[in-house]
Amino acid sequence: ERYVELLGDGSRWGLNISYAEQPQPNGIAEAFRIGRSYLNGQPSSLILGDNLFFGSGLPQRLTSAAALEHGAHIFACRVDDPERYGVIEFDADQQPLSIVEKPRHPTSNWAVTGLYFYDGRAADIAAELRPSARGELEITDLNAHYLREGSLTAERLGRGFAWLDTGTPETLMAATQFVCALETRQGIKIACLEEIALAQNFITADQFARQAASAPISAYGRYLKNLLSDLEIDARPTQLRVVGARQ
Ligand code: G1P
Repeated sequence: ERYVELLGDGSRWGLNISYAEQPQPNGIAEAFRIGRSYLNGQPSSLILGDNLFFGSGLPQRLTSAAALEHGAHIFACRVDDPERYGVIEFDADQQPLSIVEKPRHPTSNWAVTGLYFYDGRAADIAAELRPSARGELEITDLNAHYLREGSLTAERLGRGFAWLDTGTPETLMAATQFVCALETRQGIKIACLEEIALAQNFITADQFARQAASAPISAYGRYLKNLLSDLEIDARPTQLRVVGARQ
């Protein structure tokens, strides 16, 4: 209910959001069983709610991953504690060699992040999966299926990218401090949905201006109002026009 309350139908950002609930924690791959009729054989992407990604050029990488028509595309990040994650091993040509969920003896330091792109077959493949020893339908098993058929590509997010997960109090604290440090230092917000929606043309300058005007009196509301003046939005009687955008 809290997510629905917060995000609604997404129209504020030019999105169309619908919701489905996973009644029991039966594993990430169950998303494809629950969402099978919604997906209706379309390609999809999946992101875990406790994963945070930050880095220059990320939107371009996501746009090209989203163009995928066949196979699956995942992202790997170097971590110090790979045994907490799905771990991917690369061969000498940087092609994925193996993918194992929380191995006791990891064969590399490359963790599979919680951001996945799939072709239209993901739900059909997920329907055939069996629960793992920990009783979950593993996303790693779905990825391993694509790996076996030779259609899994894995992209490394190297230096310059931050991948944080917020699954424990300590990691949530670390992510909070990371976001706070950048936002405070630079005076920009990370993942301000209205700002992104405007930049992506999901909403018009007019819609943005109305949202900024009705935003609550808070640091977030002030940020939107400042953006509005930065954008030099020229209010004309019938519409608003953006004459200059902040980089
Ligand atoms: C899940 C996935 C794992 C992946 C991780 C990323 O782990 O099973 O492969 O590396 O998310 O956050 P879990 O959240 O189940 O521990």
